[in-house]
Amino acid sequence: MNLKTKIGKLVLQNPILVASGCFGYGEEYAPLLDLSRLGGVVTKGISLKPRPGNSPPRLAETPAGLLNSIGLENVGVDRFVEDKLPFLRKQKACVIVNIFGESLGEYRKLAEIFNDIDGIAGLEINISCPNVERGGLEFGLKPDSTRKVLETVRGKTSLPILAKLSPNVTDIVEIARAAMTGGADGLTLINTLKGMAIDVNTRRPKLARVIGGLSGPAIRPVAVRMVYEVARKLSVPIIGAGGIDSTEAALEFFIAGARAVQIGTGLLIDPRLPLTIGRELAGYLDNQGLKDIESLVGNMLIEKSKRRKE
Ligand SMILES: Cc1cc2nc3c(=O)[nH]c(=O)nc-3n(C[C@H](O)[C@H](O)[C@H](O)COP(=O)(O)O)c2cc1C
Repeated sequence: MNLKTKIGKLVLQNPILVASGCFGYGEEYAPLLDLSRLGGVVTKGISLKPRPGNSPPRLAETPAGLLNSIGLENVGVDRFVEDKLPFLRKQKACVIVNIFGESLGEYRKLAEIFNDIDGIAGLEINISCPNVERGGLEFGLKPDSTRKVLETVRGKTSLPILAKLSPNVTDIVEIARAAMTGGADGLTLINTLKGMAIDVNTRRPKLARVIGGLSGPAIRPVAVRMVYEVARKLSVPIIGAGGIDSTEAALEFFIAGARAVQIGTGLLIDPRLPLTIGRELAGYLDNQGLKDIESLVGNMLIEKSKRRKE
């Protein structure tokens, strides 16, 4: 079964990727699964300078989800290129580097640096992190600033670029349109939803930073809806993410209109989940009489009259 998929000019051998921040730089996972068999490895968000992240506690479990406020802890671009990227290359992983800046200038510089480095398949532009004081979500909430970040990155690199969008907006379609106008090759939908939890015995927030980002199955219906809305209105290449913990969950995203999916929180329960989903996806296509992944993307059966009423 041919599972090859294309996100603009980014060609992936299969449509199952691992999501930024849930796979580090691949080192801890490499003994558990063959990284070359993944559709892609999206790295932890990389910034110009190393970042220590936020103070703990910065993880809290919720019903069907996980709250995090990591705050983009990472080794910084220099150490990433020197120490981490060679390992990923050696594993023959398809590497997509997730980048994050506090200003347009920082996004520009990062795009410039990665444009000159071999062995990178693409960049994912994080304009959607809810856990930092400056940058991140600040850019991704408005169409204008979204477009500007994408234009800035586009101006400095010929690599395929994906805009990673936030669900914490009123109209995801207008942000998606702005990202594509700015020069994105495709979109990753979605980053985490803002949330919080309180320990009622201590009356303290469960996260030191009080508010964090919610991931896991709890957010899946929101993510599927956003993929569906953007795919229908804009017909642009989409990578879906949000609460994928099984093959059935991944299939929802393809049927809603995603050309690939990313698995994040689900990896914390089963690190080999992407490979299982890849295998079961091929079986599903076969059973449904579909010849490839392309035939499944956006192939939702819905009565015409209902579609008009939406
Ligand atoms: C602990 C943690 C760290 C994350 N770090 C990043 C990050 O550095 N950059 C980014 O764009 N998204 C980051 N994310 C968001 C995920 O990549 C993903 O978009 C989100 O968690 C939804 O998918 P999931 O429900 O499968 O986890 C992080 C998520 C978690 C749970």
